[in-house]
Amino acid sequence: MSKETLTITDNRTSQSYTLPVEHGTIRAMDLRQIKTGPDDFGLMTYDPAFMNTASCRSNITFIDGDRGILRYRGYPIEVLAEHCTYLEVAYLVLFGDLPTEHELKEWVTEITHHTMLHETTKKFMEGFRYNAHPMAMLVSTVAALSTVYPEAKEIQDPANRMHQIKRLIAKMPSIAALAYRHSLGFPYVYPDNDLSYPENFMNMLWKMVEPKYVANPVLARALDILFILHADHEQNCSANTMRCVGSSHADPYLTTAAAAAALSGPLHGGANEEVLKMLDEIGSKQNVPAYVKKIKEGHGKLMGFGHRVYKNYDPRAKVIKWAAERVFEVTGRNPKLDIALELERIALEDEYFIKRKLYPNVDFYSGIIYQAMGFRPEMFTVLFAIPRTVGWLAQWQEMLTDPEQKIGRPRQVWTGHEVRQFVPLKGRSPVAATAR
Ligand code: CMC
Repeated sequence: MSKETLTITDNRTSQSYTLPVEHGTIRAMDLRQIKTGPDDFGLMTYDPAFMNTASCRSNITFIDGDRGILRYRGYPIEVLAEHCTYLEVAYLVLFGDLPTEHELKEWVTEITHHTMLHETTKKFMEGFRYNAHPMAMLVSTVAALSTVYPEAKEIQDPANRMHQIKRLIAKMPSIAALAYRHSLGFPYVYPDNDLSYPENFMNMLWKMVEPKYVANPVLARALDILFILHADHEQNCSANTMRCVGSSHADPYLTTAAAAAALSGPLHGGANEEVLKMLDEIGSKQNVPAYVKKIKEGHGKLMGFGHRVYKNYDPRAKVIKWAAERVFEVTGRNPKLDIALELERIALEDEYFIKRKLYPNVDFYSGIIYQAMGFRPEMFTVLFAIPRTVGWLAQWQEMLTDPEQKIGRPRQVWTGHEVRQFVPLKGRSPVAATAR
């Protein structure tokens, strides 16, 4: 018998089954043969929140959470952050290899020429309430692009797919900038094709009456590094949403909007905004011990701490800490950094956090940089969504081209009633108030 197998004995029937083991997994469908009798449906696994279930094979992003390793297509994140631009990394994430000089030039030109939004999209965004949350505006507007590009539903056509992918990567900063300007009541700034991806984004955000906006190169580089760090993160909540919604063959705009909606939650990409709120609530270094005590007593979570996969320092947080120093040389030190550093110091020495392997994650320091650069906290998750778009799209492509993938559809363990006798309206008893 091959060593790469698992033998299971079903104590209900005393029967044994041998299942193949591949890449450290057994196939859940192999369990279906394990039955107590011909009427039995067969064994399933029960895994709420996918704690131990691989839903796909992937060769995009590798994480070793115990060792704090993150690689895109085999390249360590620290190396990419040091040597590449975001668009170079986007190419890598999407196509599997780093571009040559010529390929990069072509790629940058193509993305640059898709940055404009249709005027109806601009008008659509003008309809949002003055204080609409920019992340909600982004989600809705990305979905609305589906109305501008109806041909996007031809998802089986690779050329068409690639066209929409380029549009999405290019238009995300334009949508984000418009959402920001809308919240300030400022007019929309059209893209400037002379500028790099981060510089153009900064131009659309902050240009006022000057004829040509010139971004501070240190800040533009820091933004590009932050984009690199956020480009993909394997099967997280929003990537899984992207794959699941995409598996129904919805178009890429609607699918990306769904992924962005998943990202907006405070336990996922929304955490960066929550970290700033938390630091504001703490107020000063002296209040950190009391705040940590409150968390340990079960009153809330330390936002920007903990991760489903990392049980070590998040490698992205290390790069962000380094980038923060460069940014503060330009903007001056954000006083929140001292509170954050103290919070990290106390938490990392505390038995509660040590035992649960809770370390700072990517969201812990990113908001502090964003704030120093002039962004309001409501924009932080939008800044996460811009670069993550390429990760979502790479995951979507991989899912669509994988012959093993089908429409995503988990099973359930039924805990409800057996068949019930119907009672006409007048004969029913009141439902207990607690059940309503
Ligand atoms: N503060 C305090 N306790 C925590 C925290 C935290 N941030 N995170 C986890 N724990 C505790 C949790 O209460 C549990 O304790 P116990 O075993 O006593 O019940 C234990 O640690 C294990 O936590 P879990 O909730 O089972 O872990 P999870 O893998 O389901 O959740 C997480 C991961 C990221 C949702 C969670 O750590 C969290 O809510 N963190 C704060 C929000 C945050 O920073 N999110 C950003 C994640 S990284 C970027 C991204 O995904 O966008």
